[in-house]
Amino acid sequence: MKIILLSYNEIHRGTLILVNGAHAFDESAVQELIPIHSDGDALLQSSASHALNRLMSAVRGWQEIAFVSAWRSRGEQQRIWDDSLRENGPEFTRTYVALPGHSEHETGLAIDLGARREHIDFIRPEFPYTGVCGTFREKAADYGFVLRYPKGREQVTGIGHEPWHFRYVGIPHARIMREQDMTLEEYTDYLRRFPYKNSLCFWENGGQKAAISYIEAQQEPIRLELPDHCLYTLSGNNVDGFILTEWR
Ligand code: DAL
Ligand code: ZN
Repeated sequence: MKIILLSYNEIHRGTLILVNGAHAFDESAVQELIPIHSDGDALLQSSASHALNRLMSAVRGWQEIAFVSAWRSRGEQQRIWDDSLRENGPEFTRTYVALPGHSEHETGLAIDLGARREHIDFIRPEFPYTGVCGTFREKAADYGFVLRYPKGREQVTGIGHEPWHFRYVGIPHARIMREQDMTLEEYTDYLRRFPYKNSLCFWENGGQKAAISYIEAQQEPIRLELPDHCLYTLSGNNVDGFILTEWR
């Protein structure tokens, strides 16, 4: 048996954390950040950075796609917020800039992308639905990325439609979210229906690939016993619990 202890403060860590207007990012939960490119200074969490590079290679993206914004410190988010308030006013700013402390960019799991142009808008870069950008969109979920702020879900996410902002949640979660057309708010909520031992099964090619379970956090550490051979990933949801993904 593998024994895992789940401590309450770990709910703020992992690739499935929900960060939005209601749920701030815990700065102490920043994980290892690495450059996206060997010659650039844009940073992402290592799992997101590796996945993005694999996806970009698969679609031959770097020649036509530029990264516009990746990890931001809270101070940087505050500067963007203040500048936008001054230049664009409060309505625009609340629609397209997350409150400092509540931005996915602070997690190192989100990236803004733009089609390469002479001028790329920093807050609202153009990222079309056609060409290489379109191919990137089609394949994104297979590499663990979702379009985080879709059109028509502004009331759910609290942010305007952002065709350029992608969030790494990992696989199989991105695939399930795409298939079920769910935002991260909805997916986090949906997973509460699947407690440990009554998991959500993810099937691929007719066989079960992964079992996903929600485990509610307790003030005292939770002791979880998993079979020795079990391959798993674990993430907090940044609200009230953990998501365990067991690979089959
Ligand atoms: N543009 C997104 C919402 C951010 O500022 O994090
Ligand atoms: Zn963004």
